[in-house]
Amino acid sequence: MRILGIETSCDETAISIVECSGNIASPHFTIIDSIINSQASLHAQYGGVFPTLAKREHIKNLPILLETLMQKHDQKNIDAIAVTQGPGLEPALWTGIVFAKELGAQWNVPIIPTNHMEGHIISPLLQAHQEEVRFPAIALLISGGHTQLIKVSSWGHYEIIGDTKDDAVGEAFDKVARILGLPYPGGPHISRHAALGRVRHTISPFACPRPMLHSKDYHFSFSGLKTHVLYAAQKIGEPTPEEVEDIAQGFEDAVTEVLTKKTFKAIEDTGACSLIIGGGVVANTHIRETFTQLCKEHNISLFLPTQEASTDNALMIAAAGYITYLKGNLDTTDFKADGNLAL
Ligand code: KG4
Ligand code: ZN
Repeated sequence: MRILGIETSCDETAISIVECSGNIASPHFTIIDSIINSQASLHAQYGGVFPTLAKREHIKNLPILLETLMQKHDQKNIDAIAVTQGPGLEPALWTGIVFAKELGAQWNVPIIPTNHMEGHIISPLLQAHQEEVRFPAIALLISGGHTQLIKVSSWGHYEIIGDTKDDAVGEAFDKVARILGLPYPGGPHISRHAALGRVRHTISPFACPRPMLHSKDYHFSFSGLKTHVLYAAQKIGEPTPEEVEDIAQGFEDAVTEVLTKKTFKAIEDTGACSLIIGGGVVANTHIRETFTQLCKEHNISLFLPTQEASTDNALMIAAAGYITYLKGNLDTTDFKADGNLAL
């Protein structure tokens, strides 16, 4: 079946068309088309996403994106519409839901309320010729809003076993970037500066703490790490380009070590044979490379989304919508936006 996906949970307005087939044990996805409008540059002046502005932009962009996409596709081939129900910013989520409901009524197709986090979990399957995920699997979701470890027993069956106590990892990247005077969203800038530091030395002279590294659970905490960078930056005053690189590298190393140690503890304790990583922070080269190396050493199958499918997008929403459809939760036209929607 062909699903139109709609995503408006944060600052990306996105619409996609995905051909979905297979059963819940073995779903398959073929990308037909996708269009995305990022508002990141508009929110940059606020140093984070400003919900009212996001809402206004989604309302403006959704009809434009749909018209552009549907110029190339026949509406009669769309069998259902999957829309993000949550989690996310409620005013932003509402815009997508209202738009989807109106479109569903107009096209006479069912609406599938979809979980954004399930979208990130399923995002690696959007790659062509993807091998099948063996279960149990561990999913590590690292984005601007989430840092979660999830036990995946099968598609559609999830148990959150670890979460952040304070800042999400992407949020920490963004805050550290701000401290260093780098633009929003800060993740890619920290990553670039850290890579320059890594050319000069494998271990940064700027040592950072590893919060909760030895706690017996799978939880995370990143706000202390951010505060450590803040105090160090205040002490330095005006950092030189090399000092910015050293701090970025020290911070990235600490985050990577905490993420990898906790994830592999979860893998060992649950007997998982696959690791799925999703969310915008998976775009980070150092984190990707470190996980790739460790998975090879531990003989764990690693599933990473492409760049296109890692940051917020509507392809993953269409794919997750298909899982919801296969589970039989179809067309609840009276559903509401839920900013804290659980998996
Ligand atoms: O999944 P996503 O697009 O949106 C949310 O659901 O939050 O993730 C956005 C987050 C931002 O915090 C951004 O700084 C971070 O992903 N990010 C990165 C990189 N690229 C994006 N963090 C570290 N390194 C990167 N290369
Ligand atoms: Zn996301």
